[in-house]
Amino acid sequence: MKERTFVALKPDAVKRKLVGKLIERFENKGFEIIAMKMVKLNREMAEKYYEEHKGKDFFENLVKFMTSGRIVAMVVEGENAITAVRKMIGKTNPIEAEPGTIRGDFATKTPENVIHASDSKESAEREIKLFFKEEEIFSE
Ligand code: TYD
Ligand code: MG
Repeated sequence: MKERTFVALKPDAVKRKLVGKLIERFENKGFEIIAMKMVKLNREMAEKYYEEHKGKDFFENLVKFMTSGRIVAMVVEGENAITAVRKMIGKTNPIEAEPGTIRGDFATKTPENVIHASDSKESAEREIKLFFKEEEIFSE
């Protein structure tokens, strides 16, 4: 089943110049990037993006981090993309993420864990809408 998922390369990834390497993983896998833009989130946008975590102890630090620099937002399309991309990025805590996953290979701690990907069909739809207009998404 062909699906769309939302992926963001976080401010640490952009600062560390990992953008090319990270995009390459999705293209190598056979997924297609059907939308992409560079964005600097403001507080309002970051709070909306992570609204499910509002009130948690790490929320404030997360928002601070996500607004600290620009991110690369994209829509990734392909066979079972939501589950497959979550597998590719690895566990939230990079120390628990398996080597071979993106977080396992490129990060050691939160919130600087390099990448975000939608965790369900509902969050994919919500996150894609938050960042892209329909005419900015390219698909047959
Ligand atoms: P979460 O949605 O639980 O993880 P994921 O990014 O794997 O979907 O959390 C969102 C982000 O919040 C996570 O990528 C990093 C940050 N975070 C912390 O800083 N500390 C924490 O204890 C957790 C759970 C998340
Ligand atoms: Mg999440």
